[in-house]
Amino acid sequence: MENFTFSNPTKIVFGRGTENQVGTEARPHAGTVLLHYGTGSIKRSGLYDRVVSSLELAGLPFIELGGARPNPRLDLVHEGIRLCREHRVDFILAVGGGSVIDSAKAIGVGVPYDGEVWDFYTASATPQRTLPVGVVLTIPAAGSEASKSSVITKEEGELKRPLDAEVIRPVFAILNPELTCTLPPYQTACGAADIMAHVMERYFTPVTNVDFTDRLCEATLRTIVRTIPIVLEDPHNYDARAEIMWAGTIAHNDLLGTGRVGDWASHMIEHEISGIYDVAHGAGLAVVFPAWMKYVYRRDVTRFAQFAVRVWDVEMDFSNPQRTALEGIHRLEQFFRRIGLPVRLEEMNVPADRLTEMADKCVESGAKGSLVKLDAPDIVEILQMAR
Ligand code: NZQ
Ligand code: ZN
Repeated sequence: MENFTFSNPTKIVFGRGTENQVGTEARPHAGTVLLHYGTGSIKRSGLYDRVVSSLELAGLPFIELGGARPNPRLDLVHEGIRLCREHRVDFILAVGGGSVIDSAKAIGVGVPYDGEVWDFYTASATPQRTLPVGVVLTIPAAGSEASKSSVITKEEGELKRPLDAEVIRPVFAILNPELTCTLPPYQTACGAADIMAHVMERYFTPVTNVDFTDRLCEATLRTIVRTIPIVLEDPHNYDARAEIMWAGTIAHNDLLGTGRVGDWASHMIEHEISGIYDVAHGAGLAVVFPAWMKYVYRRDVTRFAQFAVRVWDVEMDFSNPQRTALEGIHRLEQFFRRIGLPVRLEEMNVPADRLTEMADKCVESGAKGSLVKLDAPDIVEILQMAR
């Protein structure tokens, strides 16, 4: 196990009706609030009205900015920064999923910064300060509600880039599983793939002697595999929604990565796909992750066989561990298919004519992986395998 520091200051408020506490939670942090949200789901579900009532009850003035799209755009971040400065906003409330939260985080670091906020996403500057961000989460997926990341797309150049910085972790996250019952099945499934990918990026590590966190990872994966079919069948199953929501936060709040080094190549490759083709991040991962696994599993057959046995109940073939490893990858792919996700690029209508460009951009952005260090030809090969 590697040395580590673990500090996750995001306060989690979990359970039925908890969105009604948002005013009370925001009060210690806020004078004037920017209420930031997406493209309409919170208005359709009535969540918007409850959040507004709670802010009013707490006596918090607010302005609002909707319109954060999946794969959130830099242009709206600029608009948010301008609004916050104009109205002297000192707290941002993100009500939505990863896209809204990531946009809120970008606005948060942009407001006190004199330069261009994109500098933070090209690693040419490091954010030292942010407006505090609070969250009411509506989809378990990205884990942004307690993560140190924000991913923003700059349309010019089709660049989707992450910022990682401790300073941007939200101060609180309100997690009411009831809010996720309105998710379309496809979004539920995309969320599942992303949650699983966050665990698997950490699971497939070059670090040895990490059995405790291996077991935590396996438990998280098994929970998703068990509960997603339940909510696809019965979208209002609170107990299953609750398991998924908490698993989604734990998958990406860094607990499961303690003492380990994550890989993250699949994520970086996926960001190139959604940066150009605007597909859902989780769907892109369902395509890329199994292909990546098939490309690299020989590097650590034992670990891939362990994944097969402990997560997918594959019987260990001691005479041929490679076969066990491959069966685990096959079961993952089957699971993605079964819950309605694409597992090939063409199923997402992604043509094969820009694979080299994607691979080059991925490597230029510094993405390489750690279980296996990838160069551009390796990434092209993985994308070919995903066709
Ligand atoms: O725009 P609205 O109306 O909110 O609709 C959204 C959107 O269309 C809808 N939705 C959300 N909650 C709903 C709902 N519809 C009905 N009922 C609800 N309760 O779902 C769609 C997807 O929302 P989005 O926020 O895009 O989903 P997700 O949470 O998967 O976020 C994806 C973004 O997060 C980034 C991804 O790259 C992608 O841009 N990631 C962020 C990370 C982080 N900050 O730590 C890590 C991840 O690896 C990921 O890269
Ligand atoms: Zn992800």
